[in-house]
Amino acid sequence: MGLSDDNLSEISDYIGYLLNIGYSEMVLPVRQDAEVSNSLSPLSSIRQEIGDCRRCPLSEGRTNLVFGEGAATARLMFVGEGPGADEDREGRPFVGRAGQLLTRMIKAMGLERSEVYIANIVKCRPPGNRDPEQFEIEKCLPFLQAQIEAICPEVIVGLGRVAVSSLLGRKVSMTRIRGNIQYFNGIPLMPTYHPAFLLRKEHDRKWKADAWEDLKKVMAMLDLHTDGHGDST
Ligand code: URA
Repeated sequence: MGLSDDNLSEISDYIGYLLNIGYSEMVLPVRQDAEVSNSLSPLSSIRQEIGDCRRCPLSEGRTNLVFGEGAATARLMFVGEGPGADEDREGRPFVGRAGQLLTRMIKAMGLERSEVYIANIVKCRPPGNRDPEQFEIEKCLPFLQAQIEAICPEVIVGLGRVAVSSLLGRKVSMTRIRGNIQYFNGIPLMPTYHPAFLLRKEHDRKWKADAWEDLKKVMAMLDLHTDGHGDST
């Protein structure tokens, strides 16, 4: 609330009056309403809401919950499937071999990893790296949705079949859908191959070249420019 000159002169008159009648000090009340005391960022509030999650059985086998990481105002967000062994150990997304490839892909786009946001469909490691079950996805997805709302990225890259199917709410074929913009709650979603899949297909350049084409479309959407040699990741 702003104060006008009239307000200020009334306050000054009132303080003069109080001094005249013998007051020498004044104790002002401290505001304690929600607006002032709840200073958690939206992402920290979501993390707090998740707490020591026991909403599904994936929690039983986890070492660390993998919330996601990156810039809170990222223009670009990557969504994978779920933590693997390395991510479970470190509590951070995409830090294993697939993560190293993802980091190279991000750099090839002319970005730093810290400039984007990286998260997964499920936040706890499925045992033996199996696909997450539908009910596990359903328990976890509202939190990812809240993260996406908080970050409000301009584009989401969906990494692999599980991520893209979960975000779209229907089963998809990656070879058919990749490279074709979809929408998640109004935000453009680019489906592309999962880096772990690209590592399994390393003997054939075609797959990485396709993924690079998809990322180049994302770069055009974000008006990013590089030397164009990203497919050498
Ligand atoms: N694979 C994923 O889908 N997510 C990770 O965080 C790591 C590997």
